[in-house]
Amino acid sequence: AGGGEQHIEDVAFSFEGPFGKYDEHQLQRGLQVYTEVCAGCHGMKLVPIRSLSDEGGPHLPEDQVRAYATQFTAIDKDTGEEREATPNDFFPKSALENAPDLSLMAKARAGFHGPYGTGINQFLRGIGGPEYIVSILTGYTGHEVEQAGTTFYENSAFPGGLIAMSPPLADGQVEYADGHDNSAHHMAEDVAAFLMWAAEPKMMARKQAGFVAVLFIGLLTVLLYLTNKRLWAPHK
Ligand code: HEM
Repeated sequence: AGGGEQHIEDVAFSFEGPFGKYDEHQLQRGLQVYTEVCAGCHGMKLVPIRSLSDEGGPHLPEDQVRAYATQFTAIDKDTGEEREATPNDFFPKSALENAPDLSLMAKARAGFHGPYGTGINQFLRGIGGPEYIVSILTGYTGHEVEQAGTTFYENSAFPGGLIAMSPPLADGQVEYADGHDNSAHHMAEDVAAFLMWAAEPKMMARKQAGFVAVLFIGLLTVLLYLTNKRLWAPHK
């Protein structure tokens, strides 16, 4: 088993393209999946809990974020003792030693490489980190292999084809507060979008600043062209 061609599915996420935006509701659902499922093993130690109330992110009301933080504990910097977490603490680190931290996972993995290693696909379809996460979560074939006392699960998206993570999502596993479709595939998309936001929380601001910069450069081009014409006009 395993070793076959890696299969990454393309997903049309709302945040792709030059004007792409995170969908606040999708990020909230993704947070719910992360909290109820992924956080059992994985951590997100680079993400401050307070950022959950940021505009351009899940944008939760601050009282909800305060309540959310209380389910975790943190080591107090002053007393060195364990206490209830507050929004100023970070998400806990991974509970399971071999489960990688997910803070930057959506940017650490590239879904698309080709054709022929040129990476052109990334221009057309996005960097593919979130797609890679969706494909991992939905790519289980149901086949299991026992190797050196560890169970590996065949997965069509994981390089090498055998992953140590058991299939985390099943249809209907998370009951969404907003009543949204909770098939495994939808939950995978929602948590992938959430992890993209975690890895790049300022993406919307970056795209906006980039757009304004392009406008200014366009204007500067026109002005320089006219200046050039006028300066040289007498010498022609
Ligand atoms: C690996 C996501 C739930 C245990 C991974 C990877 C991702 C991921 C993206 C990295 C694959 C790579 O290295 O390229 C998620 C998400 C979850 C989830 C989004 C929730 C929906 C869980 C749960 C467990 C778990 C509940 C524990 C029962 C692991 C382990 C690995 C892993 C052990 C390392 C696998 C290996 O390197 O073979 N996970 N995971 N994960 N996850 Fe999860």
